[in-house]
Amino acid sequence: MPQPPGASREWNAEEYHRLSAPQFLWGQRVLNDLHLRGDEWVLDAGCGTGKLTRLLLQNVPRGRVVGLDVSRNMVLHAQQNLRPDFGNQVQFVAADLLRLPFLCRFDGIFSTASFHWVLDHDALFRNLFQTLKPGGWLHAQCGGGPNLERLRERVRTLSRKTEFARWLAAFPEPWFFSDAETAASGLRAAGFEDVRTDVEPASFSVPTSQEFEDYLRTFVLHRHLERLPTEQLRQQFVHELAAASAHDNPPWALDYWRLNLRARKPE
Ligand SMILES: C[S@@+](CC[C@H](N)C(=O)[O-])C[C@H]1O[C@@H](n2cnc3c(N)ncnc32)[C@H](O)[C@@H]1O
Repeated sequence: MPQPPGASREWNAEEYHRLSAPQFLWGQRVLNDLHLRGDEWVLDAGCGTGKLTRLLLQNVPRGRVVGLDVSRNMVLHAQQNLRPDFGNQVQFVAADLLRLPFLCRFDGIFSTASFHWVLDHDALFRNLFQTLKPGGWLHAQCGGGPNLERLRERVRTLSRKTEFARWLAAFPEPWFFSDAETAASGLRAAGFEDVRTDVEPASFSVPTSQEFEDYLRTFVLHRHLERLPTEQLRQQFVHELAAASAHDNPPWALDYWRLNLRARKPE
C-alpha cells in the first residue's frame, strides 16, 4: 500500500506498524483501565493499523468493534490484519472524526494517540457525543499539555533557517495539545458528564540516531516533511534534529505527555 505523494491526511502504515511499540504500550494501559462486560459495541476512533483494535476485539467477544480512521492506508492495513481473525465482529470505516457517520450507535468510544491531530476539539467532542448511545462512555488518550515541547521548539527554530523557511516558516503546527482543564470544559459543553481529565508524562528515548529520524518521519513530522520539495531537504531536516538531540541526556529522547479523557453521555 504505497503512500500517495502529497496526500496530506495519509500515513505510512507499514512504518507506523513497525515503530509503534510505545503507542501500543500506552494504549494497552488505557485499555486495561476499561472494565468491559464483553458484549459492547465500541468505536476505535483513529484506529491506525489496528494493533489496539485487536485487543479491544478480544475484550468484547460477544460485541462488535468499528475501527475508524481518516487515513485509507491505515484502514486498509488494519482491515487486512484483523478481518481474517475476527470476520464480521469488526468493521472499518475511512472517515473524519469531525464528520462521524453514526448516531446513538455505540456503547463506548475508545481512542488513543489520535485526538491531538484534530484541531477543533469542541467539534470533535460534539461528534463523539452524538455517536454514543445514552449512558455510553468515552475512554481516550492523546497528546496534551507540554507534549514534545523541546522538540517543537527545535522544529520552530529550524523552520526559520534559510533553506527551510520558504516552505515551513509560516506552517502552523498540525496538532492541538490541550490541557486537562480545557478538555474537561469542552467535554462538559458537548453534554458529557462524569468528566475526568489529567495529563501525565510519557517520555522515552530511542537507541540510535537512525531510529530517531525514522520515528520523526513517520510519527511527528510527516506533515512538515510533505511540504519540503526534495528528499535531500527532508533528510537534512530530520538529520539536524537528530544531531541536536544527540547531545540531550539521554540522547534521542522524545518528551511526550499524554492527556487522559474519561466521560459519559447521560442516560
Ligand atoms: C498516531 S496514530 C494512532 C493509531 C492507533 N490509535 C494507535 O494508538 O496505535 C493517529 C491516527 O489518527 C488518525 N487521525 C488523525 N486525524 C484524524 C481525523 N480527523 N479523523 C480520523 N482519524 C484521524 C490518523 O490517520 C492516524 O491513523
